[in-house]
Amino acid sequence: MAIKDKIKKLKKEKNAVILAHNYQLPEIQDIADFVGDSLGLSIEAAKTNASIIVFCGVRFMAETAKILSPQKIVLLPEKSAGCPMADMIDPRGLKSLQSKYPNSVTLCYVNSSAAVKALCDYCCTSANALKMTQNIIPKNKKIIFVPDQYLAQYVSAKLNFNFITWEGYCPVHAEILLEQIMKVKSLHPKAKVIAHPECKPIITDFADIVTSTEGMSKYIKDSIEKEFIIGTEIGIIYRLKKENPDKLFYPASEKAICEDMKKINLEKVLWSLKKMSHEITLPKRVMDKARLSIERMLQII
Ligand code: 13P
Ligand code: SF4
Repeated sequence: MAIKDKIKKLKKEKNAVILAHNYQLPEIQDIADFVGDSLGLSIEAAKTNASIIVFCGVRFMAETAKILSPQKIVLLPEKSAGCPMADMIDPRGLKSLQSKYPNSVTLCYVNSSAAVKALCDYCCTSANALKMTQNIIPKNKKIIFVPDQYLAQYVSAKLNFNFITWEGYCPVHAEILLEQIMKVKSLHPKAKVIAHPECKPIITDFADIVTSTEGMSKYIKDSIEKEFIIGTEIGIIYRLKKENPDKLFYPASEKAICEDMKKINLEKVLWSLKKMSHEITLPKRVMDKARLSIERMLQII
């Protein structure tokens, strides 16, 4: 039996669902029940009737699924799939920053550990960071935003509002350079430039559209334009081509590859379902506190 068929059979027998992020390998996107951005994956994890969630993404995403569905088994097929940006902040560091601003509230980007989320008042993803901030500002003027300094700068510029920030960043997006985009643009002058808000401000200022990975998919589907320069991790281009066979896509940088997102393959998914590995477990106390910030987000979007 082909490996894909083995996965399908086992998935049915165990009442499991496979959720995959837009940056996953094509073979994973093809077998997934749902492919999406962090927000879409959280929503899907919260509403699924499956008993097991096989999460093809990175640890903070699988943790978010577990927090939202604590009664379900959440499996991360590769234990070491993490997010370097999420690892740039820990509870100790956040507590120390919060102690300097006692009258503040904390908004955390979903790219953070469960332990960090447990110390935050609100959570957001790249899809709703603007909306979440707009909702919080009337109630609180002092907002700590962690850990992504570039997403914070993007939202600040849009809303003319200053956050208290943390110096975290995504190494994949931070290495996308304006010179590279200009070079691609000179070869394809009609192409629209689309960038993820984790890119540096010099890139988001230049881009025609700044949006989450799901926002990119939606914008391109609805657009009458035919060519696009994609300023994010290049794994999403597989999905974009599949959804838009008549359109052309050029990576802003061929080097924009998140190694952690590429750690999961078909063999690991099969193994994960067979052995029920690697199960995400979190202390109840941490999950209960972290859930508040995520649920506040899900109520607002
Ligand atoms: P999205 O939520 O836009 O998919 O982004 C997640 C991420 O990790 C981007 O690097
Ligand atoms: Fe983290 Fe960046 Fe990878 Fe997204 S692309 S998971 S932010 S390291």
